[in-house]
Amino acid sequence: MRSQLANSSRLTLRICFKGLLWTGSDERPRYLHPPLDHHFGQGRLRKQVLFDIQLEIAAGEIVLMTGPSGSGKTTLLTLVGGLRAAQQGSLKILGQELAGAKEQALVQARRQNGYIFQAHNLHRSLTALQNVKMGLEVTGTQPLQAMVEQATKILHQVGLADHIHYYPDDLSGGQKQRVAIARALVSHPAIVLADEPTAALDSQSGRDVVTLMQTLAKEQGCTILLVTHDNRILDIADRIVHMEDGCLKNNILTIGSKR
Ligand SMILES: Nc1ncnc2c1ncn2[C@@H]1O[C@H](COP(=O)(O)OP(=O)(O)OP(=O)(O)O)[C@@H](O)[C@H]1O
Ligand SMILES: [Mg+2]
Repeated sequence: MRSQLANSSRLTLRICFKGLLWTGSDERPRYLHPPLDHHFGQGRLRKQVLFDIQLEIAAGEIVLMTGPSGSGKTTLLTLVGGLRAAQQGSLKILGQELAGAKEQALVQARRQNGYIFQAHNLHRSLTALQNVKMGLEVTGTQPLQAMVEQATKILHQVGLADHIHYYPDDLSGGQKQRVAIARALVSHPAIVLADEPTAALDSQSGRDVVTLMQTLAKEQGCTILLVTHDNRILDIADRIVHMEDGCLKNNILTIGSKR
């Protein structure tokens, strides 16, 4: 395992809440941080929800995370996304340490991610095009016309050419989720974090949206970490990790064997 890691220059996410962290080019594993974990609450209400998490994900890899309700999947995803501050251990995303990072650094880290949630979280008062354009406005450097063109293009790619000016209320669940995917991917993020993106969809629509995510992500070379309870979509994964009681199981490294 060590040599696999040492040989990989493609690592993008490096998560290690406790224990050993390999540094890639260095032959010797070493402790970089005190072996601590993630808790919620304070004092007597303090509750540990993640234990000894060690996960490394290569650039372009699609990793699916399964596990029972309450096992800590969303908590891990929000930490990786910089939506929640990592308290202890090490959480390196694209070379940047997020554990103990200041709010400004977390905001910066969030900008490199695309997010897809169980509920599509579209703005009801904005059209599909305007919602997708928002995915570009957060990074905010392009002229308006360029943003409109890019948003229009990706809406075509997700099969919504005829629904560009529709409001979310006038779209089906699958169509809304496709808008959400377009919004997440329009800025070509390095990482896409998806939390049960198919949960509200029927089996065929669920299949369609993950296939779409997979296709777009492969085109853009982005990394996907996707939480799901949906066994029907597991085959899109390069690797499946399983969370149970705050611990990751089946975390088999595949670095170097894919693509
Ligand atoms: N903000 C919070 N404050 C306190 N405890 C929390 C908070 N968020 C989550 N928890 C607790 O952390 C544990 C893990 O929750 P998490 O939402 O990560 O689980 P999950 O695996 O995503 O579950 P599900 O499959 O139901 O979405 C649960 O016991 C939950 O009650
Ligand atoms: Mg969850």
